[in-house]
Amino acid sequence: MFHPKFHSVHAILFITALSGLSAVNAAEQQQLSESVRDAHSSWAWNLCGTPSDIVEIKSLEINPDPPEKGQNLTITVKGVAKEQIEDGAYASVVITIGGIKLPPKEYDLCEEARKANASIQCPIEKGEHEVTQTVELPKEIPNWPISIQAQGFTADDRDLTCANFMVKFT
Ligand SMILES: *[C@@H]1O[C@H](CO)[C@@H](O)[C@H](O)[C@H]1NC(C)=O
Ligand SMILES: *[C@@H]1O[C@H](CO)[C@@H](O)[C@H](O)[C@H]1NC(C)=O
Repeated sequence: MFHPKFHSVHAILFITALSGLSAVNAAEQQQLSESVRDAHSSWAWNLCGTPSDIVEIKSLEINPDPPEKGQNLTITVKGVAKEQIEDGAYASVVITIGGIKLPPKEYDLCEEARKANASIQCPIEKGEHEVTQTVELPKEIPNWPISIQAQGFTADDRDLTCANFMVKFT
């Protein structure tokens, strides 16, 4: 799960310790701190819906990858809507931090899209779509496993989609 550079950081630290070097030059220090920062989180996602869901998520990408505390995180989701999505569609989001489940929150999807001037607006036509959303990650995120489960529903309570996103900062 760790970024490949994580291993090279350990190798550098190990070699430095072994050879008893007390000084690392500025260029090496720079490289080291960048490598450490690069290895500061790991993440994964999966689907938790059924094949009859109205929205089929095809891909989820994030930038930067892996995410970094205190930075903007851009999430790009590609999916297919099997039918038009009308006003009133909503999502129930459950966040679990370090095994502690926070109370679920409901979001009106069309209203949130309007408020955020999102690239996609209701009614969402049947067909393929790409949604990009940027969130500012706080600096003080704890180094505990965080999972976010988002379950979407139509205005008449039929399943839209369900996705889990897991992240762990280290
Ligand atoms: C995140 O994006 C917002 C809006 O574009 C910007 O004002 C803010 O400075 C950015 N934050 C960081 C840490 O880059
Ligand atoms: C959305 O766009 C409108 C019109 O362009 C603008 O007035 C408003 O401030 C924007 N809202 C956000 C949250 O960016």
